[in-house]
Amino acid sequence: MDIRNAQEENIKSLEAISKEFDFEPNRDWKGLVKDHEMFLLFDADRVIGFTGLIEYKWNRTLQISNIFVRPEYRGQKLAQKLLTHLIGKAEKTGHRCLIAEAPSDNSVVKLYETMGFRKCGHNDRYYSNTGEPQAFWMSYDLE
Ligand SMILES: CC(C)(COP(=O)(O)OP(=O)(O)OC[C@H]1O[C@@H](n2cnc3c(N)ncnc32)[C@H](O)[C@@H]1OP(=O)(O)O)[C@@H](O)C(=O)NCCC(=O)NCCS
Repeated sequence: MDIRNAQEENIKSLEAISKEFDFEPNRDWKGLVKDHEMFLLFDADRVIGFTGLIEYKWNRTLQISNIFVRPEYRGQKLAQKLLTHLIGKAEKTGHRCLIAEAPSDNSVVKLYETMGFRKCGHNDRYYSNTGEPQAFWMSYDLE
């Protein structure tokens, strides 16, 4: 498995995965690839996972846009591999903090905590107006 920077020709793969798994269906995948750094995890020539970074210059933070691993590849520490890649990238920049959002109703908080992130806040209007699930904000200090 190897991680490569997403290129324009990979946009269709991201759109197909999003559609197949109903994952963030309203995302502008084209915009994410064009305007931000996206990283794809490949098994040979097949995209099996991805993640990305959104840069906020004004407060010197990087935000993880999303993280996804195809279901048949889960449980093999591939999300950890993607996050290790992001942390390595982030540590080489002059940013202050790497942040991520994690829904309260699944295991993603644990994934981030395993990687050294800590809960730094929550937003109960991030996904819907019902307050459920809420979004936890996770942070990893870079300095
Ligand atoms: C979240 C996701 C990326 C994890 O991918 P993965 O490759 O299976 O994760 P890993 O194997 O690297 O797991 C790393 C750690 O995350 C946690 N974790 C991952 N899946 C878990 C599960 N089903 N139950 C409990 N903990 C889990 C554990 O702490 C695990 O460490 P451990 O194996 O030592 O216990 C994957 O389940 C996924 O794509 N989900 C759908 C998309 C999504 O919800 N993304 C997050 C919001 S953007």
